[in-house]
Amino acid sequence: MRGIFISMEGPDGSGKSTQIELLKKYFSEKGYEIVITREPGGTKISEAIREIILNKEYTEMSYMTEALLYASARAQLVSEVIKPALEAGKAVISDRFVDSSAVYQGMARGLGVENVYKINEFALQGIMPELTIHLDLPAEVGISRKNDQKELDRMELEAIDFHERVAEGYRKLAALSPERIYTIDATQTIEVIHKKIVDKLETILK
Ligand code: TMP
Repeated sequence: MRGIFISMEGPDGSGKSTQIELLKKYFSEKGYEIVITREPGGTKISEAIREIILNKEYTEMSYMTEALLYASARAQLVSEVIKPALEAGKAVISDRFVDSSAVYQGMARGLGVENVYKINEFALQGIMPELTIHLDLPAEVGISRKNDQKELDRMELEAIDFHERVAEGYRKLAALSPERIYTIDATQTIEVIHKKIVDKLETILK
């Protein structure tokens, strides 16, 4: 069995984790061993870096530091988890990957998408998702969902126009890579979204 790497992307509150839970079942029925991970995080070191990035007391963090910290957390995740899992023929599903940096740091923070991919090249070791699911949702819907669930972190506490740039940034990025990034309207029901993801995967796994 060959390894397969899928990433799930979208604004905060777009329902990525719910869809990942459903995908787990789909892949195990196909006979895959599954590795589910999230960014920033997914390893002991990357989770420690996550604590620093999302700590809402660190309001002075520069955008460059932020971008480099996300890339460091990613470097550890790729080396320790993603690369070995793919080599062992597993299905890897990641809640966010480098496209999050392209959109949040490159576009919404204004560092530039090219610059962000450049600093991440070192972390990626040539590994990119075969398919990226983009859950498209208006920024205010996502943030109000998060608001209902928990205390907001440093990124979620950004003003609504930041989250609007994120939602729009994902649409732009998806338009630039239509062969890899598959956009789904995330205002639809959980079941409808899952069915669309499964239909897309069927065309890839054939
Ligand atoms: P999460 O809430 O989906 O776990 O993600 C944490 C936050 O970090 C979320 O607001 C998106 C943001 N983020 C970036 O800004 N850049 C990145 O590269 C990643 C992976 C996440």
